[in-house]
Amino acid sequence: MKSLFDLTDRVIVVTGATGALAGSAANYLAAQNARVVYLGRSQEKLDAALSGCRAQTPDAECLGIIADVLDRPALERVRDQVLQKWRRIDGLLNGAGGNMPGATVPPEKSFSDLDFDSFQQVIDLNLHGTVLPSLVLAPLMVEGGSGSIINFSSVSAPQAVTRVVGYSAAKSAVESFTRWLAVDMARRTGGKVRVNALLPGFFIGEQNRRLLTNQDGSLTERGQLVIQNTPFGRFGEADELHGAVHYLLSNASKFATGTTMPVDGGFVAYSGV
Ligand SMILES: NC(=O)c1ccc[n+]([C@@H]2O[C@H](COP(=O)([O-])OP(=O)(O)OC[C@H]3O[C@@H](n4cnc5c(N)ncnc54)[C@H](O)[C@@H]3O)[C@@H](O)[C@H]2O)c1
Repeated sequence: MKSLFDLTDRVIVVTGATGALAGSAANYLAAQNARVVYLGRSQEKLDAALSGCRAQTPDAECLGIIADVLDRPALERVRDQVLQKWRRIDGLLNGAGGNMPGATVPPEKSFSDLDFDSFQQVIDLNLHGTVLPSLVLAPLMVEGGSGSIINFSSVSAPQAVTRVVGYSAAKSAVESFTRWLAVDMARRTGGKVRVNALLPGFFIGEQNRRLLTNQDGSLTERGQLVIQNTPFGRFGEADELHGAVHYLLSNASKFATGTTMPVDGGFVAYSGV
Protein backbone atom coordinates (compact mmCIF):
# COMPACT_ATOMS: atom_id res chain seq x y z
CA MET A 1 0.00 0.00 0.00
CA LYS A 2 1.26 3.49 -0.83
CA SER A 3 2.23 5.70 2.10
CA LEU A 4 -0.05 8.62 2.92
CA PHE A 5 2.99 10.76 2.28
CA ASP A 6 3.94 9.27 -1.09
CA LEU A 7 4.84 11.96 -3.64
CA THR A 8 6.29 9.68 -6.32
CA ASP A 9 5.78 11.13 -9.82
CA ARG A 10 3.66 14.02 -8.56
CA VAL A 11 4.26 16.99 -10.84
CA ILE A 12 4.90 20.02 -8.65
CA VAL A 13 5.56 23.54 -9.92
CA VAL A 14 7.64 25.71 -7.59
CA THR A 15 7.83 29.48 -8.06
CA GLY A 16 10.74 31.33 -6.44
CA ALA A 17 12.68 28.07 -6.84
CA THR A 18 16.02 29.88 -7.01
CA GLY A 19 15.32 31.43 -3.59
CA ALA A 20 16.20 30.21 -0.11
CA LEU A 21 12.98 28.59 1.14
CA ALA A 22 11.27 27.45 -2.06
CA GLY A 23 14.62 26.33 -3.52
CA SER A 24 15.30 24.13 -0.52
CA ALA A 25 11.75 22.74 -0.68
CA ALA A 26 12.10 22.05 -4.42
CA ASN A 27 15.29 20.02 -3.84
CA TYR A 28 13.57 18.13 -1.04
CA LEU A 29 10.57 17.31 -3.25
CA ALA A 30 12.87 16.03 -6.01
CA ALA A 31 14.50 13.77 -3.43
CA GLN A 32 11.01 12.41 -2.62
CA ASN A 33 10.68 11.27 -6.28
CA ALA A 34 8.36 14.11 -7.25
CA ARG A 35 8.73 15.69 -10.69
CA VAL A 36 9.69 19.23 -9.89
CA VAL A 37 9.38 22.28 -12.13
CA TYR A 38 11.73 25.03 -10.97
CA LEU A 39 10.56 28.50 -12.00
CA GLY A 40 12.94 31.44 -11.82
CA ARG A 41 13.76 34.66 -13.62
CA SER A 42 17.47 34.12 -14.26
CA GLN A 43 18.87 31.27 -16.36
CA GLU A 44 22.11 31.35 -14.40
CA LYS A 45 20.32 30.93 -11.07
CA LEU A 46 18.03 28.26 -12.50
CA ASP A 47 21.05 26.31 -13.79
CA ALA A 48 22.66 26.55 -10.34
CA ALA A 49 19.43 25.40 -8.64
CA LEU A 50 19.06 22.43 -11.00
CA SER A 51 22.65 21.35 -10.54
CA GLY A 52 22.15 21.62 -6.76
CA CYS A 53 19.10 19.40 -7.13
CA ARG A 54 20.98 16.80 -9.23
CA ALA A 55 23.97 16.85 -6.89
CA GLN A 56 21.60 15.82 -4.12
CA THR A 57 19.41 13.47 -6.18
CA PRO A 58 21.30 12.27 -9.30
CA ASP A 59 18.20 10.69 -10.89
CA ALA A 60 15.92 13.65 -10.03
CA GLU A 61 13.19 14.44 -12.52
CA CYS A 62 13.45 18.20 -12.59
CA LEU A 63 12.85 20.86 -15.18
CA GLY A 64 13.82 24.55 -15.07
CA ILE A 65 11.73 27.19 -16.82
CA ILE A 66 12.16 30.96 -16.91
CA ALA A 67 9.02 32.78 -15.80
CA ASP A 68 8.19 35.93 -13.91
CA VAL A 69 5.18 35.27 -11.66
CA LEU A 70 3.65 38.57 -12.81
CA ASP A 71 3.85 37.62 -16.50
CA ARG A 72 0.71 35.72 -17.48
CA PRO A 73 1.86 34.69 -21.00
CA ALA A 74 5.10 33.31 -19.49
CA LEU A 75 3.07 31.30 -16.96
CA GLU A 76 0.86 29.99 -19.76
CA ARG A 77 4.00 28.84 -21.59
CA VAL A 78 5.06 27.06 -18.37
CA ARG A 79 1.68 25.34 -18.23
CA ASP A 80 1.99 24.21 -21.86
CA GLN A 81 5.57 22.99 -21.46
CA VAL A 82 4.77 21.00 -18.32
CA LEU A 83 1.68 19.51 -19.91
CA GLN A 84 3.69 18.48 -22.94
CA LYS A 85 6.33 16.79 -20.76
CA TRP A 86 4.31 15.26 -17.94
CA ARG A 87 0.65 15.69 -19.00
CA ARG A 88 -0.57 17.02 -15.66
CA ILE A 89 0.13 19.26 -12.68
CA ASP A 90 -0.46 17.96 -9.15
CA GLY A 91 0.94 20.72 -7.00
CA LEU A 92 1.95 24.38 -6.92
CA LEU A 93 4.23 25.94 -4.33
CA ASN A 94 3.91 29.72 -4.63
CA GLY A 95 7.34 30.54 -3.18
CA ALA A 96 8.14 33.75 -5.08
CA GLY A 97 7.68 36.74 -2.82
CA GLY A 98 9.35 39.06 -0.40
CA ASN A 99 9.71 42.61 0.78
CA MET A 100 11.24 45.77 -0.72
CA PRO A 101 13.04 48.44 1.26
CA GLY A 102 10.85 51.26 -0.17
CA ALA A 103 7.68 49.61 1.16
CA THR A 104 8.88 49.85 4.75
CA VAL A 105 8.80 52.69 7.27
CA PRO A 106 12.24 52.86 8.91
CA PRO A 107 12.50 54.14 12.52
CA GLU A 108 13.71 57.62 11.53
CA LYS A 109 10.73 58.12 9.17
CA SER A 110 6.94 58.11 9.53
CA PHE A 111 4.06 56.51 7.66
CA SER A 112 3.59 59.70 5.61
CA ASP A 113 7.05 59.13 4.07
CA LEU A 114 5.95 55.76 2.64
CA ASP A 115 6.78 55.33 -1.04
CA PHE A 116 3.43 54.27 -2.46
CA ASP A 117 4.95 52.87 -5.67
CA SER A 118 7.05 50.45 -3.62
CA PHE A 119 4.00 49.59 -1.52
CA GLN A 120 2.15 48.66 -4.71
CA GLN A 121 5.10 46.63 -6.00
CA VAL A 122 5.15 44.55 -2.83
CA ILE A 123 1.42 43.91 -3.16
CA ASP A 124 1.99 43.02 -6.81
CA LEU A 125 4.74 40.53 -6.11
CA ASN A 126 3.26 38.78 -3.08
CA LEU A 127 -0.46 38.89 -3.84
CA HIS A 128 -0.66 39.03 -7.63
CA GLY A 129 2.43 36.78 -7.86
CA THR A 130 0.44 34.17 -5.93
CA VAL A 131 -2.91 34.73 -7.65
CA LEU A 132 -1.60 34.59 -11.24
CA PRO A 133 0.23 31.22 -11.09
CA SER A 134 -2.84 29.80 -9.32
CA LEU A 135 -5.13 31.25 -11.98
CA VAL A 136 -3.10 29.71 -14.79
CA LEU A 137 -2.31 26.33 -13.20
CA ALA A 138 -5.27 25.49 -10.94
CA PRO A 139 -7.59 24.69 -13.88
CA LEU A 140 -5.29 21.77 -14.76
CA MET A 141 -5.65 20.40 -11.25
CA VAL A 142 -9.42 20.77 -11.51
CA GLU A 143 -9.40 18.93 -14.84
CA GLY A 144 -7.04 16.28 -13.48
CA GLY A 145 -9.27 15.73 -10.45
CA SER A 146 -6.68 16.46 -7.74
CA GLY A 147 -4.14 18.99 -6.63
CA SER A 148 -2.65 20.99 -3.81
CA ILE A 149 -1.58 24.64 -3.78
CA ILE A 150 0.64 26.07 -1.06
CA ASN A 151 1.00 29.83 -0.58
CA PHE A 152 3.43 31.73 1.65
CA SER A 153 2.19 33.98 4.43
CA SER A 154 4.33 35.56 7.14
CA VAL A 155 4.23 36.41 10.86
CA SER A 156 3.45 39.97 9.75
CA ALA A 157 -0.03 38.90 8.58
CA PRO A 158 -1.66 37.94 11.93
CA GLN A 159 0.32 40.50 13.97
CA ALA A 160 1.62 43.99 13.29
CA VAL A 161 5.37 43.79 12.73
CA THR A 162 6.95 47.27 12.78
CA ARG A 163 8.28 48.84 9.55
CA VAL A 164 6.99 46.27 7.01
CA VAL A 165 3.66 47.88 6.16
CA GLY A 166 3.47 46.80 2.50
CA TYR A 167 4.62 43.26 3.17
CA SER A 168 2.10 42.87 6.05
CA ALA A 169 -0.78 44.04 3.87
CA ALA A 170 0.33 41.77 1.03
CA LYS A 171 0.69 38.65 3.18
CA SER A 172 -2.66 39.32 4.91
CA ALA A 173 -4.20 39.40 1.45
CA VAL A 174 -2.42 36.14 0.55
CA GLU A 175 -4.01 34.48 3.60
CA SER A 176 -7.43 35.80 2.63
CA PHE A 177 -6.95 34.63 -0.96
CA THR A 178 -5.88 31.20 0.36
CA ARG A 179 -9.17 30.83 2.23
CA TRP A 180 -11.23 32.13 -0.68
CA LEU A 181 -9.67 29.85 -3.27
CA ALA A 182 -9.76 26.89 -0.86
CA VAL A 183 -13.53 27.25 -0.47
CA ASP A 184 -14.08 27.78 -4.18
CA MET A 185 -11.95 24.75 -5.12
CA ALA A 186 -13.50 22.58 -2.41
CA ARG A 187 -17.00 23.27 -3.70
CA ARG A 188 -16.00 22.95 -7.35
CA THR A 189 -14.02 19.72 -6.97
CA GLY A 190 -15.63 17.99 -4.01
CA GLY A 191 -12.46 18.52 -1.98
CA LYS A 192 -10.05 17.15 -4.56
CA VAL A 193 -8.13 20.41 -5.06
CA ARG A 194 -6.86 21.97 -1.84
CA VAL A 195 -5.28 25.33 -1.03
CA ASN A 196 -3.31 26.08 2.13
CA ALA A 197 -0.66 28.50 3.31
CA LEU A 198 2.56 28.19 5.24
CA LEU A 199 3.44 30.84 7.76
CA PRO A 200 7.20 30.75 8.22
CA GLY A 201 8.70 32.57 11.17
CA PHE A 202 12.09 34.24 10.74
CA PHE A 203 14.52 32.38 8.48
CA ILE A 204 17.72 34.12 7.43
CA GLY A 205 17.76 34.73 3.68
CA GLU A 206 19.27 37.29 1.35
CA GLN A 207 16.36 39.68 1.90
CA ASN A 208 16.48 39.98 5.68
CA ARG A 209 20.12 39.16 6.47
CA ARG A 210 21.14 42.84 6.69
CA LEU A 211 18.11 43.68 8.85
CA LEU A 212 18.69 40.90 11.35
CA THR A 213 22.45 40.36 11.45
CA ASN A 214 25.56 42.56 11.36
CA GLN A 215 28.49 41.83 9.05
CA ASP A 216 30.32 40.00 11.86
CA GLY A 217 27.28 37.68 12.27
CA SER A 218 26.10 39.24 15.53
CA LEU A 219 22.44 40.23 15.83
CA THR A 220 21.16 43.72 15.04
CA GLU A 221 18.76 45.31 17.53
CA ARG A 222 15.87 44.01 15.37
CA GLY A 223 17.46 40.58 15.19
CA GLN A 224 17.64 40.50 18.98
CA LEU A 225 13.98 41.48 19.25
CA VAL A 226 13.01 38.67 16.89
CA ILE A 227 14.97 36.11 18.88
CA GLN A 228 13.50 37.39 22.17
CA ASN A 229 10.01 36.90 20.71
CA THR A 230 10.71 33.46 19.29
CA PRO A 231 10.25 30.90 22.10
CA PHE A 232 12.77 28.59 20.37
CA GLY A 233 15.34 31.40 20.74
CA ARG A 234 16.71 31.05 17.20
CA PHE A 235 15.97 31.58 13.52
CA GLY A 236 14.52 28.77 11.43
CA GLU A 237 16.50 26.66 8.96
CA ALA A 238 15.10 26.20 5.44
CA ASP A 239 14.88 22.43 5.86
CA GLU A 240 12.53 22.90 8.82
CA LEU A 241 9.79 23.79 6.34
CA HIS A 242 10.14 20.54 4.40
CA GLY A 243 7.84 18.50 6.64
CA ALA A 244 5.01 21.02 6.35
CA VAL A 245 5.43 21.28 2.56
CA HIS A 246 5.43 17.48 2.28
CA TYR A 247 2.33 17.13 4.46
CA LEU A 248 0.34 19.78 2.58
CA LEU A 249 1.20 18.37 -0.86
CA SER A 250 0.52 14.74 0.05
CA ASN A 251 -2.63 12.73 0.79
CA ALA A 252 -1.73 12.98 4.48
CA SER A 253 -3.51 16.36 4.48
CA LYS A 254 -6.44 15.34 2.30
CA PHE A 255 -9.10 16.84 4.59
CA ALA A 256 -7.14 20.07 5.17
CA THR A 257 -7.87 23.15 3.12
CA GLY A 258 -7.95 26.90 3.72
CA THR A 259 -5.51 26.56 6.61
CA THR A 260 -2.45 28.61 7.44
CA MET A 261 0.23 26.59 9.16
CA PRO A 262 2.81 28.42 11.27
CA VAL A 263 6.35 27.00 11.26
CA ASP A 264 7.91 29.67 13.39
CA GLY A 265 9.50 28.36 16.59
CA GLY A 266 6.43 29.59 18.49
CA PHE A 267 6.57 33.26 17.36
CA VAL A 268 2.85 33.79 16.65
CA ALA A 269 1.76 31.81 19.71
CA TYR A 270 3.81 34.04 22.04
CA SER A 271 2.54 37.30 23.53
CA GLY A 272 6.10 38.43 24.26
CA VAL A 273 5.39 38.40 28.03
N1 LIG B 1 12.80 34.12 4.90
C1 LIG B 1 11.85 34.35 5.81
O1 LIG B 1 12.13 34.52 6.98
C2 LIG B 1 10.40 34.34 5.39
C3 LIG B 1 9.46 34.43 6.40
C4 LIG B 1 8.11 34.43 6.08
C5 LIG B 1 7.73 34.33 4.76
N2 LIG B 1 8.67 34.25 3.78
C6 LIG B 1 8.17 34.14 2.42
O2 LIG B 1 8.65 32.93 1.88
C7 LIG B 1 8.80 33.07 0.47
C8 LIG B 1 10.24 32.71 0.10
O3 LIG B 1 11.10 33.62 0.77
P1 LIG B 1 12.69 33.48 0.81
O4 LIG B 1 13.14 33.94 2.15
O5 LIG B 1 13.10 32.16 0.32
O6 LIG B 1 13.08 34.63 -0.21
P2 LIG B 1 14.12 34.60 -1.42
O7 LIG B 1 14.34 36.04 -1.79
O8 LIG B 1 15.32 33.79 -1.09
O9 LIG B 1 13.28 33.88 -2.55
C9 LIG B 1 12.27 34.54 -3.26
C10 LIG B 1 12.43 34.19 -4.72
O10 LIG B 1 11.38 34.83 -5.45
C11 LIG B 1 11.93 35.25 -6.68
N3 LIG B 1 11.13 36.33 -7.26
C12 LIG B 1 11.00 37.60 -6.83
N4 LIG B 1 10.21 38.29 -7.66
C13 LIG B 1 9.82 37.42 -8.64
C14 LIG B 1 8.99 37.53 -9.78
N5 LIG B 1 8.39 38.69 -10.09
N6 LIG B 1 8.81 36.44 -10.54
C15 LIG B 1 9.40 35.26 -10.24
N7 LIG B 1 10.20 35.09 -9.17
C16 LIG B 1 10.40 36.18 -8.38
C17 LIG B 1 13.33 35.74 -6.32
O11 LIG B 1 14.15 35.78 -7.47
C18 LIG B 1 13.76 34.67 -5.34
O12 LIG B 1 14.37 33.60 -6.00
C19 LIG B 1 8.44 34.52 0.14
O13 LIG B 1 7.09 34.59 -0.20
C20 LIG B 1 8.65 35.21 1.47
O14 LIG B 1 7.88 36.38 1.55
C21 LIG B 1 10.00 34.25 4.07
